[in-house]
Amino acid sequence: MKILVTRTLPGNALKRLQQHFDVDLWPEPDAIPAEILRERIKDKQGLLCLLNDPIGQDIMAAAPELKIIANYAVGYDNIDIAAARRNNITVTNTPGVLTDATADLAWSLLFAAARRTVEADGYARSGKWQGWDPNLMLGHDIFGQTLGIIGAGRIGTAMALRSRGFEMPVVYTSRSENRTLEDIGARRVHLTELLETADFISLHVALTAETRHLIGSQEFERMKDSCVIINTARGPIIDEKALVHALKTGQIAGAGLDVFEEEPRIDPGLSQLENVVMLPHIGSATVRTRSRMADMAVDNLIAFFDGKTPPNMVI
Ligand code: NAP
Ligand code: GLV
Ligand code: GLV
Repeated sequence: MKILVTRTLPGNALKRLQQHFDVDLWPEPDAIPAEILRERIKDKQGLLCLLNDPIGQDIMAAAPELKIIANYAVGYDNIDIAAARRNNITVTNTPGVLTDATADLAWSLLFAAARRTVEADGYARSGKWQGWDPNLMLGHDIFGQTLGIIGAGRIGTAMALRSRGFEMPVVYTSRSENRTLEDIGARRVHLTELLETADFISLHVALTAETRHLIGSQEFERMKDSCVIINTARGPIIDEKALVHALKTGQIAGAGLDVFEEEPRIDPGLSQLENVVMLPHIGSATVRTRSRMADMAVDNLIAFFDGKTPPNMVI
C-alpha cells in the first residue's frame, strides 16, 4: 500500500508507518501545494494529512485508488465529508488525546487575556516600568466569575471542569444535556442567556455550516462590556471583522485567540489591539500530545489496511 504523508510528524509514528507501508513523505516545513498534492496522490491508497490541507472533491477525483484519509487533528472541517462519502473514502481523526492540552491552552489564553500578562511582560521588559502603581495594568477578576462554554464536547467539558478550582458558575450551550457538566452544577442555557450572563466565553464547537459565524455583531452586542472571549476551536466560528469592531469600541473587554478566520493571515485590525492575546494555533502543541496524535493517525491507517475498523472513524 502506498501512503502520502503531508508533513514530518513528531515522535516515532512515521517510522512505524514506514515499516507497514510504502510512504511518500512531503518533507518541507510548509504546506504541500495543491497541485503537487494532486500529482502525488494519484497512485496512493492512503493519505495522512494536516488540518490545513484542504481535501476536497478535486483531490479525491485525482486519487482513484484512495481508500482512507487519516487527518492529523480532531477537527476535520478541512475535509469535504460529503465528497469522501460519495467516493467511498474512510475518514479518521485524532480525538481525545489532545483534549487536555487544548483545554489547558484555552485556560492560559483566559488568564492572559483577563490579567494582561503578555502586555505586562512586554512592559516589564521595556525598561519603562517606574515602580508599583495602583493603576498599572488593571485587568479582570477570574475567581468566582461566570464561565460560558459554547459547545460541550470533549474539550468544552474539560475546559469547564478546570473552572472548579476557581469556583466559577458555569453556563453552557449544547445540543444535548451534558451529564458531567450537570453533575458539577453547570446550567444548560440558550445562547442568548449565555451571551448576556457570562464573564468569560469559551468556544468549543466544531466548525460546520451551522457554526460558521456563530458569533457576530449581534452576539457581541449582547455580551457584557467586561466579557472576555476565548477561541481555541476554529477561526471562522467568529466573524473576525465584528470581533475587531467589538474590541475596538469596548463592546467587550478582550479576546484570547488560538485560531483565525484565514490562517496564517491575521487581520491587521486584531494585531493592532492590545486587548487581544494571539497564539499561532498551538492548542495541542505539547511534545507528548503531538506524538500521541501521530500514533493515533498511524494506528488508524494500520487498522484499516489490516481489514479492521479504524479506532477513530469519522465516516
Ligand atoms: P467534540 O467532542 O466533537 O466537540 C465538538 C462539539 O461541537 C460537539 O460536542 C457539539 O457540541 C458541537 N457542535 C455544535 N454544532 C455542531 C454541529 N453542527 N456538528 C458537530 N458538532 C457540533 O470535539 P472536541 O474534541 O471537543 O474538539 C472541538 C473542536 O476544537 C474541534 O472540532 C476542533 O475544531 C477544535 N480544536 C482545536 C484545537 C487547537 O489546536 N486550537 C485542538 C483541538 C481541537 P454539542 O453536542 O454540545 O452541541
Ligand atoms: C486542532 O486544531 C485539531 O482539530 O486537532
Ligand atoms: C501587593 O503586592 C500587595 O502587597 O498588596
